[in-house]
Amino acid sequence: MSGQLTQQGQGSSHNRTRSFWVPALATAFSIGGLWVGYKLSKYVRTQRRRQRLLIQYQKEMIPDSARMEAIKEDFMKQLDYGRENKVTPTGRHMLMLPSYVTALPTGLESGDSYAIDLGGTNFRVLHVVLSKEPSKVECTEMTEVSIPPNVYKGTGQQLFDFLATTLKDFIKEHKSKSSDMRVPVVGFCFSFPMDQTSLTQGLLLDWTKGFTCTGVIGQDPVALLSQALDRAGMHCRVSALLNDTIGVWAAQRYFDPKTSIGLILGTGTNACYVLPVARIPKWDYKDPSLQHPEALTVVNVEWGAFESQWLPRTAEDRDVDASTAHKGKYLFEKLVSGMFLGEVARRILLTLAADTKLFGDYSTSPDAACVLAKLAEPSSFTSVHMSAIVGEAMESKEQQRKGPAARDMLPKTAEMLHKSLGAGPAEAPPSTRKVVKEVCVMVALRSAKMVALGLDALLTHSGWKDWALHELATQERRATDLSLPSLATTIAIDGSVFAKFGGYQAMLASCMLELLGPELHPLVHIKLTQDGSSLGAVVLAQAAAEEAARKSRASADEGPVAKALEPMQTASKAQTQQQNSREPAGAQA
Ligand code: GLC
Repeated sequence: MSGQLTQQGQGSSHNRTRSFWVPALATAFSIGGLWVGYKLSKYVRTQRRRQRLLIQYQKEMIPDSARMEAIKEDFMKQLDYGRENKVTPTGRHMLMLPSYVTALPTGLESGDSYAIDLGGTNFRVLHVVLSKEPSKVECTEMTEVSIPPNVYKGTGQQLFDFLATTLKDFIKEHKSKSSDMRVPVVGFCFSFPMDQTSLTQGLLLDWTKGFTCTGVIGQDPVALLSQALDRAGMHCRVSALLNDTIGVWAAQRYFDPKTSIGLILGTGTNACYVLPVARIPKWDYKDPSLQHPEALTVVNVEWGAFESQWLPRTAEDRDVDASTAHKGKYLFEKLVSGMFLGEVARRILLTLAADTKLFGDYSTSPDAACVLAKLAEPSSFTSVHMSAIVGEAMESKEQQRKGPAARDMLPKTAEMLHKSLGAGPAEAPPSTRKVVKEVCVMVALRSAKMVALGLDALLTHSGWKDWALHELATQERRATDLSLPSLATTIAIDGSVFAKFGGYQAMLASCMLELLGPELHPLVHIKLTQDGSSLGAVVLAQAAAEEAARKSRASADEGPVAKALEPMQTASKAQTQQQNSREPAGAQA
């Protein structure tokens, strides 16, 4: 009985326990379930929002062909306007600046000279000997110094004193090897918009690329350099002043007479191209040898300032623009060049992190909060990090070889996120890395698309595209062998984005193929012309020095016979130019 009682008692206590636990567990499960469900739906909502944002960025940043056409149309209009009219330098219109280069490099330039090259925050000085053999560089010595921010944001005098003393020290060091030069000849590559009034004179129209030195806008950089050299007790002769695009074009043309375009794709971006002087009515250059309708020159486009309502800009681009020293200006450059790629990507990642917890829930995880805080710091994620990430994304062959699993892990992306933002595997799991990769690829691809569009517009505007298409059609009609090399044209490119940014060259090639089509694409040769701006400065300085020496010899020897020969020489030069110019500008072999 007592046993029964006990059993009964146990049974009733068991029942009581059950009657307590079952509903409790059920409630817990349903609360848990609700909690998990809530979390899951929040997760799904966040993921969906992230996907929606990515799709929106894709739409805003990667223009379809109709939009590309609209941008190209505006680009062509600005080129046309700029070749006819003097453009006010507002930073919102391409300037089309005549370079005053009238003797196009031939490869026969020779001699010993220096170049100074102020392109971005690095300053280069070079000593180059061009051989007497055609298109041969005998010796190059170079030094590169970085300009401290207090100098490139200081006064003009500080900047030019810095340039002059660096040049002076360099010449002293290399003097023994160039002692035959009494007064060193210098080519000055000054990579900012300049209104040139001759090959050795110009006025700075505006600073770009973060420079803000006072007292330089409206002044002649050659005069400022000469004054600084005087202060440093050094005498040099600047025989050519040029933009870096002109330099890179001249350097490549020294080796390849088909070079028709020079392009810089680095901290900033810009291009120049060969045009007949007659197509630049705003340039009233009086040299009689240029009066021939087919005489050629090269024009600095200043394409960084191109603007169109169709430019593919996002809210983040507007934020980046607002944070620059040149707000509201050079908008094309801000979509393309190395100075801005990293910042745009960083701001997009910041939006994704804040809105969709891309690097984890910063409200509960201190590590995720740290990553978010770091990402909010300007320049914490740069073009260099992006370059490695895009490079990894573009190494498709290698990834395919390793298989899909290895591809999805994106180890380089993980490393860059760790280096730049301190994100570990918890904050940057493979799914996050994939999103980061997508963002970086979009920003880089947009840059390549815009560059391809600009190049396509220059090839159209110079007349090369129509001419090459016509020639191809004629040759086909005649059923002759296509002599493709004679139709080819070369684009010389330099700058860190083109030379070093992972996968960029492949992206640009595929964008060019899309715009030029399979017939013309193989005829456009893109050549990396490393250190081209400096070498081009030397080539043009040497050409100008030779020309000056020739002129002074001629005027010393000038007698009645020389005077009588002059008109004939001018006529024969014009005839040569005419022969050359049966092909469009820059296509001469
Ligand atoms: C900026 C300058 C331009 C230069 C380019 C590349 O756009 O305005 O003159 O060529 O950067 O350095």
